[in-house]
Amino acid sequence: MATLSVLKADTGGYVGHSATHPDLVEAAETLLKGKKEDGTLLDFCVGQVGDDVALILSHTRGAESEAIHRVAWEVFQQTTDVAKRLKLYGAGQDLLSDAFSGNLKGLGPGIAEMEIDERPSEPVLVFLADKTEPGAWNLPLYRIFADPFNTPGLVIDPKMHDGFVFEILDLKADQAARFKTPEESYDLLMFIGAPSHYVVRRVLRAQDEEVVAATSTQKLSLMAGRYVGKDDPVMIVRAQSGFPAVGEILEAFARPHLVGGWMRGSHVGPIMPVGFRDAVASRFDGPPRVACYGFQLNRGRLVGPRDLFADVAFDPARRQAGEMAEMMRSMGPFEPHRLPLDEMEYTTMPEIMARVRDRFVPVEEAPLEERQEGTAATGR
Ligand code: 13P
Ligand code: 13P
Ligand code: MG
Ligand code: MG
Ligand code: MG
Ligand code: MG
Repeated sequence: MATLSVLKADTGGYVGHSATHPDLVEAAETLLKGKKEDGTLLDFCVGQVGDDVALILSHTRGAESEAIHRVAWEVFQQTTDVAKRLKLYGAGQDLLSDAFSGNLKGLGPGIAEMEIDERPSEPVLVFLADKTEPGAWNLPLYRIFADPFNTPGLVIDPKMHDGFVFEILDLKADQAARFKTPEESYDLLMFIGAPSHYVVRRVLRAQDEEVVAATSTQKLSLMAGRYVGKDDPVMIVRAQSGFPAVGEILEAFARPHLVGGWMRGSHVGPIMPVGFRDAVASRFDGPPRVACYGFQLNRGRLVGPRDLFADVAFDPARRQAGEMAEMMRSMGPFEPHRLPLDEMEYTTMPEIMARVRDRFVPVEEAPLEERQEGTAATGR
């Protein structure tokens, strides 16, 4: 049994929030190489998207292993040191605590893990997104595992024909629930159609409850209670032989959807599928990006990565995302480009509200100018 752990953090941006610095990636690779040599890891790959570094680790220690989380913690401490030395932007941004107590959960990094009983051939895709939130995976996961117009295998493949079970999380109430598709699709959609509130944590094949997809569900602002950058989630999906084909999984990103998390974590924009070379976030600190690292697992070894969105057939999706970005940008500081107010509560919104609160008075009372002398309205 191999375990795949993908742990991702922003420990410093180069330049601003746009990309990572090569020294930071090199530091991560050097440390992980040692952990492979001493037998802690079977294999590793350091992935990047925007200003985030993802540690893609294979090992035999199971999910939530203290040893593995400790490795990731050490790497993120070291890359933070490099970032501080280079005065990169937001050094240590995603590390909310200085103390590691056995598990990275709740400390800031995004984590997705999956224990895999390796099949005769085990293709695995790892998705990394920047400038967005965990709910960004909801729509593509629905397309992949519940929409036959995206995934003909749901109709054709007898192992998928019974459908899939979606395990969802209520991020605000800290509760989980399961819904089975196709029978409960409409119930499921009622929840996952609200991706800032409900996120898909795992997908299981209905026939045998084999886990086929896992996501990171950590929401930084809910952990920190203030704005500390965007969550920038990761996702693992297994492919082929009773699971969706690689192309069916990627197809879910061929028509870009709108997600929250662009510029200051406060704007909605299209998620653009990009090859590794284009996995940077510059225009208006975005638009949100997703890169896909493809591997063939071989006895726990990560054969790869293949850069799966580098395919020119995704050029129309990128062009469309560009047009959607243009359209959204024209709205400036107005919703729905800017996030709704209840999601701005982790930004400067509470401060502004506190400062002007006493200007808001019941509408029925005396005219405003009589009651608000000394405010901006009287030209003070
Ligand atoms: P190949 O014949 O190229 O292996 O294709 C099989 C397939 O089903 C692709 O979706
Ligand atoms: P990151 O979470 O990628 O650091 O983004 C922060 C931001 O606000 C960019 O505008
Ligand atoms: Mg950043
Ligand atoms: Mg980021
Ligand atoms: Mg972030
Ligand atoms: Mg073939």
